[in-house]
Amino acid sequence: MPIETILNRLERMSGLDMFGRKLGRVYTKVVRPGRVRDVLSGTFMRHPAHPALTDMTIGAWTSAIVLDMFGARRGSEILVGVGALSAVPTAITGLNDLSDITDNQTRSVAVAHAAGNVASLSLFVASYFARRSGAHRRGVALAWTGFAVLNAAGYLGGHLSFRRGVGVNQTAFDDPIRSWTPVLDAGELHDEKPVRVGVDGTDVMLYGSRGKIYALSNRCTHRGGPLHKGKIADGCVTCPWHLSVFRIDDGEIVRGPAIAPAVTFETRIHEGKIEVRSHD
Ligand code: FES
Repeated sequence: MPIETILNRLERMSGLDMFGRKLGRVYTKVVRPGRVRDVLSGTFMRHPAHPALTDMTIGAWTSAIVLDMFGARRGSEILVGVGALSAVPTAITGLNDLSDITDNQTRSVAVAHAAGNVASLSLFVASYFARRSGAHRRGVALAWTGFAVLNAAGYLGGHLSFRRGVGVNQTAFDDPIRSWTPVLDAGELHDEKPVRVGVDGTDVMLYGSRGKIYALSNRCTHRGGPLHKGKIADGCVTCPWHLSVFRIDDGEIVRGPAIAPAVTFETRIHEGKIEVRSHD
């Protein structure tokens, strides 16, 4: 069956989506927005934590498979164990990212990806204990099976990132506003009341406060939430979707799960119009 057909079927499996939705709800009740969530999201390093951690797990298990080929039993056993241990934080960060997914089809694939990784982890754990008990050949067979499942699950992880855009800065491909562009009559912007305007295909939030006018990309960098619908207080806007908090004046992240600051624009009033442009 062509790979595209398999992906399409996975994306339409409503059972996977429903399971993922429930899982995400439980997770977000347990792990509330704050420091722990920021660590699990990768906010502190401005890069998603999950893909970085997968390198360790995949690397350890791949190396174990190679060592098995050369008969290095002890080294292989250690790496199988290291991979299993590193898979725990990897899985938690993956669950964290899954809970933030906002569309059904992506969520279905994410659940299939997670299920594959859990199956792979189980096989490598079984491999470890088989090796420890002296059943080396069984341990190797379990590791190879786990490795095959791991690669299939990893393929789905790649699909989530590269085709479905999970973990990608949602404003990364927005065109800059190169020259001063009028967007609104100055009289139409009232203090403390955000307004959404469109500028050459870019959604911009305007916000006036104490005689200053601020402009930010209206798409949250995390998953594209509409910032103009968020709560604004203390010079910050809170995204209504997963409660990332951005400073309005420079877009800096005050709280994740976002990993990229909000995009801000310069503003001025010219001939009665509010104009915006990208920073140099
Ligand atoms: S879309 Fe997730 S915090 Fe904004």
